[in-house]
Parts: sequence; structure tokens; C-alpha cells
Amino acid sequence: MGTRIEARIVLLPGDGVGPEVVAEATRVLDAVAARWGHRWTYDTVAIGGEAVDAFGEPLRDEDVARCRTADALLLGAVGGPKWDGFERERRPEQGLLKIRKALGLYANLRPVSVMPGLADASPLKPHLLEGVDLLVVRELTGGIYFGRPSRQWREWRGRVAIDTLVYREHEIRRVVRLAFELAGSRRGRLASVDKANVLQSSRLWRAVVEEVADDFPGVNWEHVLVDAMAMHLVRSPGRYDVVVTENMFGDILTDEASVLAGSIGLLPSASIGPAGIRGRPLGLYEPIHGSAPDIAGRDIANPTGAILSAAMLLRLSLGLEEEARAVEAAVIDVVSGGVRTADLAADGSPAGTQAFGSAVAERVSDG
Ligand code: IPM
Ligand code: MG
Repeated sequence: MGTRIEARIVLLPGDGVGPEVVAEATRVLDAVAARWGHRWTYDTVAIGGEAVDAFGEPLRDEDVARCRTADALLLGAVGGPKWDGFERERRPEQGLLKIRKALGLYANLRPVSVMPGLADASPLKPHLLEGVDLLVVRELTGGIYFGRPSRQWREWRGRVAIDTLVYREHEIRRVVRLAFELAGSRRGRLASVDKANVLQSSRLWRAVVEEVADDFPGVNWEHVLVDAMAMHLVRSPGRYDVVVTENMFGDILTDEASVLAGSIGLLPSASIGPAGIRGRPLGLYEPIHGSAPDIAGRDIANPTGAILSAAMLLRLSLGLEEEARAVEAAVIDVVSGGVRTADLAADGSPAGTQAFGSAVAERVSDG
């Protein structure tokens, strides 16, 4: 048995199905702690609409401070129709953007693969899914999500709105460098996605990619335009290994890519930044799905994305590779054993969120 560790994990359950899926991820983390003798202390922080209701803002500065000193952060989801009409400062999504920016979590890693036995869950023809093993690296603290000006106003002819897509060289370089490194440790292929035929920011992105590429002669890389990539992702997804792109393109392409896996409920993500206190990056781990208010509170959400995010947390922020693999293997075992949540159950007898989480936790405990 390896070393026993102690870690402080901040939970940010958020809105909609967020609390339900985070509860299952912590159930699995607890099973890991029990089996390997680790100790977690959890600290829960309000984020999103939940925080707007309680404190009038989607994430308080004092709570950002609590996140900053954690070993890792595990988030559910934010947002919902209740807060849709709110002005920007009080929108749930701003809490998520604030924590990403405040902690400098500039790289969002979103792996996409097809679990054994789940090829039938995707609407794509099974042969297209052969060999799908993608890692999308999405830039997370720049681009149109953060550029200023960003506002709406009135003119005599009507309303006007502006958002600004801005990238600085250093913001592009660090995420592209990370993507090249990751490609080097995987199958050695990298696609950089942009819209360089139209956007200045994309032309800068391309120039930086070409400069960084010189340091990675072993990586076979290409530029791909985002509109073409939207097509390639569903026509020949097996062709790609690491895909790196700016913030909004990454947001859109990863929802699209979730179709390959069979359900958006399956996909995890890790948002990482500079090395944290242990010399490992402080990371924010979250499923890529949203708050799904239509199914919240009904014990039917798929907690797999959250559970696999917890596996990424173990691996990347705590350095527990064996434990991470055990969680991933447990998920695969449970799913291929036929335990499936409603989004994936073909036979009409789905497992609930808690039953699925318990099955994975038990599998982890059994070893
Ligand atoms: C995501 C989400 C968020 C984003 C929203 C909730 C702000 O869609 O993490 O993909 O756009 O980044
Ligand atoms: Mg998204």
C-alpha cells in the first residue's frame, strides 16, 4: 500500500442536479479513503444560484479564499431558469467564471472516450466510434468570456450589445504548451482549432502554436478551422488525439463531443492552473453537464461525469494514480454489468443516481 494522505477537498455542489451528483462523487471518494487509508476533510462552499439566494452574489470573496487553500475543488453545476433574468453580477454562471479566473485555472481538460458496451448509446454509427480517445484542452480564463467591454446599452435606433474576444500571447502560449506536452505523453497528435480565416485572435493563436510546435518535434500537429472541426468530430472522431482550442470553441465542441460517449452525463473535466501547494496543480473538477433543472431532485441524473471528475482529482491534484484507476475501472465494471441511469438505460429499468453511485462505491471497496 502506498502512503496515506490527508487532503482538504472543497465541495461546490451548486444548483439543479449538482448536489445530487456531487454526493455520489463524495460517496466514491469516501470508499477510496476507506480502502487506501487516506483522510479527506470536506468543506462546502455555496456557488451559483444557491449563493445568489443566500448571499446576493454567486460566489463570495471569502469563499474564494477558502477554495484557494484547498487541495482540490469538486463542483456540481450552476444555473437554472429561476436566475435567468438576473443582471450579470447576480447570474449563477458568474460564480463559476469567478472561481476559474481567481484561481488562474487556465486549462480545462475534457477527455472523451467510449466506454465498453456503450457504443450503442451514441446516435452515431458504431464503426465511427472505433478508437475514439480524445482529450480536449480548452482555454478557460480568456477569450470572449472575460473580454471587456462586455455590456448592453440603448441607442435611438434600438438596443446594442458588445462582447470582446481578446487573447494575449502568454495566455495562448501556456495552454498550447500544456496541450503539446499532453499530446507527447499520449498518441503524439495535436489539432489546434481556431477561426483564423476570420478572427485576428485566431491568427495570433496560430502564430503562437507554430512557435511552440518547434519545441515538440515528436508531436504531429495541425491547424483545423472550428466549423470544419464540428463536422470532423462526428464524421471521423477516431482521427484525433489532443485537441486544443480557445474558451468558447472548447465549450461548444465538448458538448458536441459528448454525443460520442453516449450521454453528456458521462463526461468529466479538470480545470488546472499553476502548481499548488503540493507542487501539483490546484484543480477544479466538475462534470461537463449543466444543472439540468428539469430532472433535478428526482434521483435520475447520471453521476458518472462527477465520479470520473473525482478520479481526475485523485490523479491530478492528489497524485493518487492507482486510486484514480480503480475508480475508473469501477465505473466501467458497473456500466458494463448493466447498471445504467435513465439517460443510458435501453431496457426501461434504469438505476437511480444514488443506486448507481453506491454500486460504483461498492465496487471500489471490493477492490
Ligand atoms: C461549461 C459550462 C459553463 C461554460 C457555463 C455554465 C458558464 O457550459 O463548463 O462548459 O460555458 O464554461
Ligand atoms: Mg459548456
